[in-house]
Amino acid sequence: MPDIAALACALPKAELHLHIEGTLEPELAFELAGRHGVTLPWPDVQALRAAYDFSDLQSFLDLYYAGADVLRTRQDFHDLTWAYLLRARADHLRHVEIFFDPQTHTARGVPMAEVIDGIHGALVRGRDELDISFRLILSFLRHLPESEALDTLAQARPFLDRIDGVGLDSSEHGHPPSKFRQVFARCRALGLPVVAHAGEEGPPAYIEEALDLLHAQRIDHGVRAIESEELLDRLARQQVPLTVCPLSNVKLKVYPDLRKHPLRDMLARGLKVTINSDDPAYFGGYVNANFTACVQALGLTQDDVVALARNSIEASWLDTVRREALLAEIDDTVRGWRGAN
Ligand code: HPA
Ligand code: ZN
Repeated sequence: MPDIAALACALPKAELHLHIEGTLEPELAFELAGRHGVTLPWPDVQALRAAYDFSDLQSFLDLYYAGADVLRTRQDFHDLTWAYLLRARADHLRHVEIFFDPQTHTARGVPMAEVIDGIHGALVRGRDELDISFRLILSFLRHLPESEALDTLAQARPFLDRIDGVGLDSSEHGHPPSKFRQVFARCRALGLPVVAHAGEEGPPAYIEEALDLLHAQRIDHGVRAIESEELLDRLARQQVPLTVCPLSNVKLKVYPDLRKHPLRDMLARGLKVTINSDDPAYFGGYVNANFTACVQALGLTQDDVVALARNSIEASWLDTVRREALLAEIDDTVRGWRGAN
């Protein structure tokens, strides 16, 4: 029996849905707490990991924002991002497009410059030392008013040379994309490409709003599109990339079990689906863990995993030269694997 999970793990891939704050492993959280003389509300690493038992998106976000309190200096943000890149390399990621949530940090008095210098510096180091290319996406918190997103954009203006796009995340229920029409129009006028979380817990109509009102180029999650035939047809016709995060969806109880996840149906409908890890420190695994779990629970085929890897490169914002090079690396890996199986 050919080992499809082994092929999936070996394939060169891109990750397009990753919150850098969601890569904070409990060990690093305690190390940073020690660095700053902060006492965490958990006695040790095991107790913190045991607290990762969520009932929905909000119960996760409460812990995720609390954990971010140990991130204070550019060194902290560098160390966080570097730890992620080492794991990305181990999973054969060749390109990453990652989110950061500036409002989580500026609200605590951490200057925007500390955040961006730390994350971007590590990304440049990763490009030079690990050959992982990158894009950095500033994400607005949708549970806060649009006026605060506009303030955040104003604060980010001096750093736009290092910001490649904007996104929308946090609590989805009751915070439709339409709430952020103005700030995204301003971002587009500045030449920033747009993505948005939609259809994770929110209804299919939020996906339509993200496309029609915010002009999102990709939809983060988008799994609830499966409830609307009309939307499925549109997403397939327009080949809108969906950055799906299977382990996240199970951990946040969007689906009771990975075997109930619609990923395979979405692929079968011709949607441009990718597999991503979202907040891997909290959700039980990085990209290869997501692929492996999906192969096992959903019986993904060789063609499925190759399509998912190719989609990740094709849905990225890479320039043509590197895009073609990475697609050729995928072909080489598949040829080598076929030869051995
Ligand atoms: N959904 C919404 N907001 C988030 C997520 C997510 O999965 N992760 C971090 N912020
Ligand atoms: Zn997310």
